[in-house]
Amino acid sequence: MIRVIQWATGGVGRAAIEGILDHPELELAGAWVHSADKDGRDLGELVGRPPIGVRATTDADRLLAMQADCVLYSPFMADTETVRAILRSGKNIVTPLGWFHPRRAERQRYDELCRAAGVTLHGTGIHPGGITEKIPLVVSALSGAITEVRAEEFSDIRTYGAPEVVRDWMLFGATPEQAATSVMANVLAGGYGQSVWMIADALGIALDDQLRVTHEVAVATAPIDSPIGPIAPGRVAAQRFRWQGTVRGTPVITAAVNWFMGAENLDPPWTFGPAGERYEVEIVGDPGARVTFTGMHAHSAAAGLVRNPGIVATAMHCVNSIPYVVAAEPGVRTYLDLPLVAGRAAASLRGTGGGPVADASLAGVDPDAARRTPPR
Ligand SMILES: NC(=O)c1ccc[n+]([C@@H]2O[C@H](COP(=O)([O-])OP(=O)(O)OC[C@H]3O[C@@H](n4cnc5c(N)ncnc54)[C@H](OP(=O)(O)O)[C@@H]3O)[C@@H](O)[C@H]2O)c1
Repeated sequence: MIRVIQWATGGVGRAAIEGILDHPELELAGAWVHSADKDGRDLGELVGRPPIGVRATTDADRLLAMQADCVLYSPFMADTETVRAILRSGKNIVTPLGWFHPRRAERQRYDELCRAAGVTLHGTGIHPGGITEKIPLVVSALSGAITEVRAEEFSDIRTYGAPEVVRDWMLFGATPEQAATSVMANVLAGGYGQSVWMIADALGIALDDQLRVTHEVAVATAPIDSPIGPIAPGRVAAQRFRWQGTVRGTPVITAAVNWFMGAENLDPPWTFGPAGERYEVEIVGDPGARVTFTGMHAHSAAAGLVRNPGIVATAMHCVNSIPYVVAAEPGVRTYLDLPLVAGRAAASLRGTGGGPVADASLAGVDPDAARRTPPR
């Protein structure tokens, strides 16, 4: 079994713990928590299941010293010192916080560190990391003469259970003037920009040097109930960010998000349209294609705050990548380097002969990799 440490137990972390417990090739070795009140909690109980005898700890050094194959790293924000310490301790990392397709200098730095420690670093998630670049690349293989690629999210942000992020970082509820000073577009560009560059690199598009970043807001026309309290009329209630790769000034690759506090009381009167909340991928080529993902949004704000399907999808993309990442050659490994990553069937459908890693040669996976002790 591949031993996994979960790093932070927010929405992604708790869904990841469930995914690790249910995955036939993975074993939960421990978890780091930031919150003191979670220190010592049984990790089964932490996710609403029976106790499993593995406890959360705030002691990072203890986890670094522990024998484990992989860390699923999903705290509130990335601390690169911690990331480097985990890698140096001989553990692979899968994370939704970046490293989807690092630019050359950053990739070189982490490649060197990973090779010295004999480990792999892989960034993955849903958006960015997944629907913003992996899925467009898969779909692009059905088209010739591609002239445009777009990946776009349309979400009701009232279902996102991270109030500090929504209020203090995203600046929902702020004045439009305050939102205009938001650092979000540039902070998020760290992730979405990598998606745009990955598509450009894979498709062979010679983008202009700088991405085009745009940020628009809509304000409330009536009080809107939200997880961060009522949004008053005139305050920011919807935001649209676009990160675009251009060729001679014309956009050809777009990653975009439309985050609304509902669509009933907005000025300008933005709406989700008849298709509702969704993720969209569009390829303009010969032939073109448009793919719409539904089912990854909560049915209601209350349900989303308890367990948000988009957050679960983020966690599962990380969890399902682990066997492939552990088996990969040391270094930074992106979607362009790894074999096809698949999910795993529910326990009720599984045979007795083990999971697909039994057929690893077909998937390009080395089933013995997890049993090798990485050099310290
Ligand atoms: N790429 C994608 O598609 C994608 C999608 C969703 C989320 N994400 C990213 O994944 C990360 C986790 O998201 P989430 O929804 O799980 O967030 P969350 O629910 O806010 O959880 C974050 C966790 O981080 C820990 N934490 C809190 N304050 C901290 C601090 N000052 N320093 C270090 N850790 C701290 C806490 O862990 P404990 O509760 O264990 O104490 C908290 O529960 C975020 O960075 C988010 O942007 C990426």
